[in-house]
Amino acid sequence: MHIRDSFTVTPGAPLRGETIVPGDKSISHRAVFFNAIAGGRAHIKGWLPAGDTEASLRAVRALGIPIERISPTEMIIDGGMLHEPEQALDLVNSGTGIRLLAGIMAGQSFPSVLDGSEQLRHRPMNRIVTPLQMMGADIHGKDGYAPLSVKPAKLRGIEYRMPIASAQVKSAILLAGLFAEGQTVIGQPGPARDHTERMLQAMGAKLTVEPEMIALEPGNPLTAVDFTVPGDISSAAFLIVAACIIPDSHITLTGISLNPTRTGILDVLQEMGADITVVETGLEAGDPVGTITVKHSQLKGARVGGEVVVRMIDEFPIFMVAALAAEGQTYVRDAGELRVKETDRLQVMTEELLKMGAQINETPDGFYIVGPQKLNGAEVYGHDDHRISMSLVVAGLAASGSSKVIDARCTADSFPGYADTLQKLGVSVVVNHEEQ
Ligand code: S3P
Repeated sequence: MHIRDSFTVTPGAPLRGETIVPGDKSISHRAVFFNAIAGGRAHIKGWLPAGDTEASLRAVRALGIPIERISPTEMIIDGGMLHEPEQALDLVNSGTGIRLLAGIMAGQSFPSVLDGSEQLRHRPMNRIVTPLQMMGADIHGKDGYAPLSVKPAKLRGIEYRMPIASAQVKSAILLAGLFAEGQTVIGQPGPARDHTERMLQAMGAKLTVEPEMIALEPGNPLTAVDFTVPGDISSAAFLIVAACIIPDSHITLTGISLNPTRTGILDVLQEMGADITVVETGLEAGDPVGTITVKHSQLKGARVGGEVVVRMIDEFPIFMVAALAAEGQTYVRDAGELRVKETDRLQVMTEELLKMGAQINETPDGFYIVGPQKLNGAEVYGHDDHRISMSLVVAGLAASGSSKVIDARCTADSFPGYADTLQKLGVSVVVNHEEQ
């Protein structure tokens, strides 16, 4: 039996009020992985209890690391030596989980197998397998895909220029570099999220970070660090876009990570005329954190390409919904990486929004939209991709007539309680429990 659930979305009301959003997914994965291999005890608060991060936590436990769960969002990790797991490590749908853990496993003195769902088995792994093999790792995929089989091997540092700006790739290499002999130097073609660099530095790693180059000198053991995980801007983005495009909306989101490698969506929406105010309130887990206030306003189309794309890479499904509401032309390029996420997000969003009457020109590395376009309520499908399902809910809130988003369960891969949060802000999103 497969629990699938669906959402019934009824438009008509604005979003109003104040809320927090769940903890940052990227930081939550890293808080568990990095503290697992560090010496000492770490207290993690604000952790994201979602499908993807829970898979990473189960994998760390299967590697013999004791984790005391105080609440769904709080835990104590006693890091140290990892032990050979009894079974293949199952990262379910999580690309970040499997790619980061592969870097760690490459440096261990025991063999392991890393695997996941059918969906994860279709995502490219050579982007990490190739540089890890250059470091001497004995890691092999199945024709470039999971399952990944890792055997003990002596690692050496490398100099590697990444062909794509990917945080998962640089993180896998840096994690393997911690167990290697000699320096590891990574060249990056763009500002991919830098949580790994910030957190490893906080834990005592000898890391030099420049805009296009990262150098790691191994030898310094990691020391456990307590982290309070800030709210995930990628989750906040659904609420931000909803408030931008639904008349009379006015919301305030508190405790959101404002790490500059993640705030591209704010920059682009502001450039489009969105009424968004950002106030920094402090620092958490190495990131600036703050309050974001959003009021409805008429957006204007924009051209999006180059450096900002990687700083909003997970936000393009919801950005497509914003572009449909904007007046004039919106042209996105340089976003071909969207085709190898949980789904081909360019193709899937175009296909589903078409069912709501949208006209979208999909291009090899982006899309072209002329707006504003009025959407009609429809039955749409989330393709087991959390960000697709959540974006379609917002499209439904901006449409005329009600919609049904089939496949709502996957929203809990990154945003548990998505429907509840929207309800609390005053809009109508009802969860229907469905099994298949
Ligand atoms: C992530 C990096 C990004 C992003 C993903 C999370 C991370 O992927 O899309 O959701 O936590 O490192 P890429 O590194 O493949 O761009």
